[in-house]
Amino acid sequence: MSFLKVEAVAKRFGTVQALCGIDLSVEKGSRTAIVGPSGSGKSTLLRVVAGFDAPDAGRVTLDGECMADGGRIVPAHRRSIGLVSQDGALFPHLDVAANIGFGLDRRAPDREARIRQLMEMVELEPAKAARRPHELSGGQQQRVALARALARRPKLMLLDEPFSALDTGLRDDLRRAVAKVLASEGIASLLVTHDQTEALSFADQVAVLRDGRLVQAGAPRALYFEPKDAATARFLGEAVILDAVLADDGWATCALGRLRLDGEGPVGPASILIRPEQLRLAASPEAGPAAEGGAGKIRARVLAAEFRGATCGLHLSLIASGDTAGTRDIHVRVSSSACPAIGSMVEIDVDGTARLLERGTASDAIA
Ligand SMILES: Nc1ncnc2c1ncn2[C@@H]1O[C@H](COP(=O)(O)OP(=O)(O)OP(=O)(O)O)[C@@H](O)[C@H]1O
Ligand SMILES: [Mg+2]
Repeated sequence: MSFLKVEAVAKRFGTVQALCGIDLSVEKGSRTAIVGPSGSGKSTLLRVVAGFDAPDAGRVTLDGECMADGGRIVPAHRRSIGLVSQDGALFPHLDVAANIGFGLDRRAPDREARIRQLMEMVELEPAKAARRPHELSGGQQQRVALARALARRPKLMLLDEPFSALDTGLRDDLRRAVAKVLASEGIASLLVTHDQTEALSFADQVAVLRDGRLVQAGAPRALYFEPKDAATARFLGEAVILDAVLADDGWATCALGRLRLDGEGPVGPASILIRPEQLRLAASPEAGPAAEGGAGKIRARVLAAEFRGATCGLHLSLIASGDTAGTRDIHVRVSSSACPAIGSMVEIDVDGTARLLERGTASDAIA
């Protein structure tokens, strides 16, 4: 039986259907990342699970106990659930020790020791105990917020974009520290994030919300390589989505030539996905046999190149090979060390298979 079970949960605010028929299962001690566009219902889902909002319909069960059944709910403070939000929401007038110990019994003999232990867990030096929140960096404040949420030994930790205000390096460090603490304490977690890399690297399960509905949930690899539709594909990373024509032999013809599909679909027009890391680019001569489509090579002109540090974003215009229609322009990312010049010609090879997308067209996916 699942540790956390969300079944058919719905929540409306006035005319906005913030959540609609959400089903989600979370295993004991596991990590789930929730991603989706702004306004898709991520925070609302966390608030319903935490007990700050009552669902209009549906059930939430935690560790075999019913937490919400429609409007009948167990109050937040009786749920053994910790919540850390984007801004940490620390009490500004209390020092670090008092913030962390806020939910602990004031007279408990082991209170001081527990606060010290929590500070150690989140890697905060003991000397910071007497500081007020404004005397801490953003990363340190988030560590205090996490320690406070851990203090009452929650069964489940809800993290609503807790790292979003931090710079990349610090964010990675803190994410690893949080994952370590949650694993060592055996606490299951739900992490809301806008950062796809964070979602894919942190979680055992990624759940994608859109317009209040759960579009797809599954293991990070499965979602990245087998997204259901164009929007989900784009959401989880860079995607090359092409118009194609499927044949009955498991192959698709598109502007990148004939590609093998990793699934089956009805013969005819469709959208297919490949990830940019499947493309191999090589410089191509402007003229000669190779330039005339020799050996079935797919060629493209580099229309624009955008330097992004380690990688370089390319806008390529595919040269028609005669038998393909549809997508002509694609956007891909290559290593900066192999970035071709603007205006030059490249040859393109595709590694691996293409994924058939369930719905949507290439134009849906251009965000
Ligand atoms: N208390 C509220 N009253 C009215 N509308 C609300 C309330 N809370 C959320 N909403 C609406 O419900 C929808 C979902 O909001 P929610 O905060 O869950 O989105 P989100 O996915 O967390 O977005 P973001 O990524 O911007 O944080 C939005 O349209 C929002 O305006
Ligand atoms: Mg939110």
